[in-house]
Amino acid sequence: MSAPRRVRKAVQPVAGLGTRFLPGTKSLPKEMLNLVDRPLIDYVVAEAHEAGIEHIVFVTGRNKGAIEDYFDHAYELEDTLLSKGKTDIAKELQDALPAPGAMSFVRQQRPQGLGHAVWCARDVIGDEPFAVLLPDEVMQGKPGCLSQLVETYAARGGNIIAVEPVDRADAHRYGIVALAEPMDADGAAAMSGMVEKPAGEPPSLFRISGRYILQPQIFAELERQEPGAGGEIQLTDAMAGLQARQPFTAKAFAGRSHDCGDKLGYLTATFAFALDRPEFAEALRSRLRGLLETD
Ligand code: G1P
Repeated sequence: MSAPRRVRKAVQPVAGLGTRFLPGTKSLPKEMLNLVDRPLIDYVVAEAHEAGIEHIVFVTGRNKGAIEDYFDHAYELEDTLLSKGKTDIAKELQDALPAPGAMSFVRQQRPQGLGHAVWCARDVIGDEPFAVLLPDEVMQGKPGCLSQLVETYAARGGNIIAVEPVDRADAHRYGIVALAEPMDADGAAAMSGMVEKPAGEPPSLFRISGRYILQPQIFAELERQEPGAGGEIQLTDAMAGLQARQPFTAKAFAGRSHDCGDKLGYLTATFAFALDRPEFAEALRSRLRGLLETD
């Protein structure tokens, strides 16, 4: 096998309405909710950059302008900080900016599903392999989840999907993969199928975890995809179609995922990321203990 083509670009669908976080998300995109002191989208972008991604395509919708602004210079803010002598913070903000031109924003005008959102990025991605990161899932792991997928991709090529164990009772809420073989020592296994939100018996107890490396032929599959689960164009259905012609590998990543599309998941992520920060860890532990004791 010749070395697979490098994954340079990533798609991040951010068009979702965030209804589960209303009224908080009435004027703030859910991707801009803070985890400690950074919006959750920032963690996902950092994960992509760590994995070698050079260009991110955000698939946006209405009221998502705050995401674009977040990754731009904030001239007035930086100026005010500098005039107050807060050069450290101003420099920190400037250093955190992406390279000029390294982000694109395309619109998904109507909420037609994840598959449709990914398809909206086709012209910017072009004819090369790419990653998809669903920002609702914020991953904690070293190396990051996408870096782990890139490693599996370098060894196996084709298409790679991050998976993690799921309780049988929750399987109907996710995409579920079917494995063709036992997982190897790195947690990777060839797949034999996948199904989105299975109504009956799931084909395994591994769920799709919101990180993918896909070949560009997925766009042709998405183009002819009929609505699936929930009446939406599903990425999982298009991947299942592509699997007739290309290998798919499931990779159980080492780390923890936080479903930040869900209130409890988001709260858990806030604490998990705060506990990961040396400046908060000890004090937060003690405060949490205090809260639990008076419960
Ligand atoms: C999407 C995918 C599903 C995956 C899930 C992970 O579902 O369609 O296969 O398991 O993300 O978060 P959604 O959360 O959009 O319903």
